[in-house]
Amino acid sequence: MLKMGCSHYQFVRLRPAIMEDLEEMLNIERSSFGDESYQKELIEQLLSDKEFHNAIVEVEDVKVGYATFFEDARKKRARLITIAVMPEYRNRGLAKALLAFLQKEMGRLRLGIVSLEVGTSNVPATNLYLSLGFRIKGTIPNYYGKGKDALYMERSIDRA
Ligand SMILES: CC(C)(COP(=O)(O)OP(=O)(O)OC[C@H]1O[C@@H](n2cnc3c(N)ncnc32)[C@H](O)[C@@H]1OP(=O)(O)O)[C@@H](O)C(=O)NCCC(=O)NCCS
Repeated sequence: MLKMGCSHYQFVRLRPAIMEDLEEMLNIERSSFGDESYQKELIEQLLSDKEFHNAIVEVEDVKVGYATFFEDARKKRARLITIAVMPEYRNRGLAKALLAFLQKEMGRLRLGIVSLEVGTSNVPATNLYLSLGFRIKGTIPNYYGKGKDALYMERSIDRA
């Protein structure tokens, strides 16, 4: 668990997510992705399968964001599956903090590369990843459905 001071908030806490966080993770999903949100069963799977690693961020005891990566232990790679922060808590560094927390976990697991896909029209998320050192490796046509392309991005993982 990481407790940190934040210029915007009195108390921010980062920790691995657990099954008891399921409902709030679903709320964060819906507030961020609307109709394209993960279903409850999928979030349950993210929380129960050991290949998935989840982090949640709380601000003054309110769960406001979460992020998940998939561990490919054989290839020593991580794949960022999702990240979302509730709209009213954005632009305060919480997504960066979530990714820093997960990156430490990736380092502990001795993974070498983390990859992700992001919609070509998703400027906030693309800027977030670029600001953290991800590089654009290519474009995947129609990744999110017809006419909705994705950027494929990667970065190396700092060792813990
Ligand atoms: C993408 C998302 C997680 C960012 O969360 P956040 O907590 O607001 O992000 P942070 O405050 O940590 O911002 C970190 C960096 O992201 C970029 N960024 C964040 N919001 C931005 C915006 N509205 N416009 C442009 N860049 C933005 C900036 O580079 C920022 O760094 P800076 O503040 O030093 O300029 C959030 O917007 C979100 O939940 N979006 C909906 C879900 C989503 O699209 N997830 C990504 C799927 S691939």
